[in-house]
Amino acid sequence: MDGLSRRKMLMAGGALGAFTALGVAPANARSLWTWAPGSSVAGSGAGIDPQWVWDEEADPVVAAVLERGEVAAVNARLATWTRNDQPVPTGLPAELRDFMEHARQLPPWADRAKLEAAATFNKGRGFYLNLLNGVGGGMLSTAIPREARSVYHSKGGADMEDRVAKTSLLGFAIGALDAYRPDGDVIVQAVKTRMVHAAVRHLLPQSPAWPRISDGQKTPISQADIMVTWHSLATYAMQKMLEWKINVTPAESAAYLHVWQVSVHMLGAHDEYIPATWDAAEAQSKQVLDPVLASTREGVELTDILLGQLAEQTSPGGIDRPLVDALARYLVGDRVADLDAIPEERFWLKTIKLVWPPLVAFREGLLPLPLVPPLAWTIDEAIRQYILWFLTKGRGATISLPDTNRPG
Ligand code: HEM
Repeated sequence: MDGLSRRKMLMAGGALGAFTALGVAPANARSLWTWAPGSSVAGSGAGIDPQWVWDEEADPVVAAVLERGEVAAVNARLATWTRNDQPVPTGLPAELRDFMEHARQLPPWADRAKLEAAATFNKGRGFYLNLLNGVGGGMLSTAIPREARSVYHSKGGADMEDRVAKTSLLGFAIGALDAYRPDGDVIVQAVKTRMVHAAVRHLLPQSPAWPRISDGQKTPISQADIMVTWHSLATYAMQKMLEWKINVTPAESAAYLHVWQVSVHMLGAHDEYIPATWDAAEAQSKQVLDPVLASTREGVELTDILLGQLAEQTSPGGIDRPLVDALARYLVGDRVADLDAIPEERFWLKTIKLVWPPLVAFREGLLPLPLVPPLAWTIDEAIRQYILWFLTKGRGATISLPDTNRPG
């Protein structure tokens, strides 16, 4: 149990205990699927519970690559594929190539003008979005048992720094100005990620840990799981921006939703599960994300590693880890912070609660500089350092298919 202090373990135990005492099943508290496909971008659908749907196009093709022992050769070819407008590399197995040709096509409902508007919005709001999708989304993901456990027990779980780098590749690709333009790379990163998920579906059930962590699933990363993670990124970020009173115009809000709709389609989500509006997203999030949040040993450990990495980057002054812990708690709230066993740093939490609203108001042009408390800039600087770290980490990393689970 590297990097996990006894204190955190006890806190995690406490959180789990509290859940069980309340009669809530910690890792499998899913409600009945009633979300109507009429609220989706498809506008209709069979209404099958997405818990029982995976990726019928990618899964068999990628499983065959693993079975034939071709992962290294395929990865070498995939590494040369870096731009949206680049043809799919030659030298790949024919059925994989066919899959990629099909998977790289944007859905017919993709709207270029909205994607451009989203890119401009992402640029203007990069400070908040990087914080929300990076730290906030990261802390939420570790409180999603299936995700935390599958990440922990997969190949990349053993090297979280590398994994953060690879995950941020897609995040930054989505947020980039040229995201869906010919010279951007979001299509490439999304198709690669879709194939990585297919590989995990094949590999993870072979892990010795699987019987303990499978949470009633035969195969991991269902369509429902994908949408859960989607809400921890897109829906959560929009909720927070509204809560913080950031000025988001209706057109910007629609554009931001659109870039995430297209991106999750590119990750293999079926259109009948992709919410058409923010209201539909909120309703689905309440049904699929809220009930599954729970504490796991793996989630607590991953949280500790992630916040430790973040603290290393933010400040040499000795206040780093408590500040980072408080920032994480502020972003996700007490319930999720407790599930993740994030220590309660009262001084810094109180400080952040005090200085965040004026800092946002200043950034939004609503408050003159003299009224921003000086301590706000310590927090602002910590966030900047963090974003910089994320940005540099992503450089040079490539998303590749895993050929094994977490070693050891
Ligand atoms: C890999 C993003 C949903 C589990 C990745 C990667 C990205 C990514 C960019 C590639 C990075 C890497 O190779 O480490 C996303 C996004 C999702 C999503 C944007 C939804 C919107 C999920 C869900 C699960 C999951 C729902 C599990 C329940 C994994 C695992 C790996 C991975 C286990 C990597 C494996 C390894 O260690 O090689 N994901 N993911 N992901 N994802 Fe996801």
